[in-house]
Amino acid sequence: MALRKIVKLGDEVLRKKCKPVTIIDPKIHALLDDMAETLHAANGVGLAAPQVGLLKRIVIIDIGEGVIELINPEILSASGEQTDDEGCLSIPDRWLPVTRPNVVEVRAVNRYGKSFTMKGEGLLARAFCHEIDHLNGRMFIDVYKEQQKEQKK
Ligand code: NI
Repeated sequence: MALRKIVKLGDEVLRKKCKPVTIIDPKIHALLDDMAETLHAANGVGLAAPQVGLLKRIVIIDIGEGVIELINPEILSASGEQTDDEGCLSIPDRWLPVTRPNVVEVRAVNRYGKSFTMKGEGLLARAFCHEIDHLNGRMFIDVYKEQQKEQKK
C-alpha cells in the first residue's frame, strides 16, 4: 500500500465527471487499498478517486466502523433532512453547514464485482452524498452556496 497525494480545490480534476469502472483488476484493488490508507492518514471520513487525481467512479468511506468501498455507486433513495458542518480533504480547514438527506440508500459494486445495496443514516448518509457528488465534479462548497442562495429568496 502507498499514500496517494490528495488533490486540492483549484485542480481541474475535481471538476470533471468520472467514468464508470468497467474492469476491476489488481490495479483497482491497489487503488482501493491506497485510498483507504490515504483516508486514514488524513483522518478523513471519505475519499473519492478524483481527490487522488483519477477520474474513476470509486469512493471510500470510513465513519469509524470500518472501510466501505463503493465502485460505480448510485443513490437509490433519499429521505429526511439533516444540517451539520461539513468539510472535505480537498478543502482543508474549511467547515460549512450543509443540509443533506438523513437516510440514503446506495447501490454499488464491491471489489469482487458483486453488486450490493447499503442504507446509511446521519453521517453515513452525508458521506454517501458528499462522495458521490465528487464523482460528478460537485464539491460541498457548491451545495453550501446553493443552499445559502435559496435561503435568501
Ligand atoms: Ni470531499
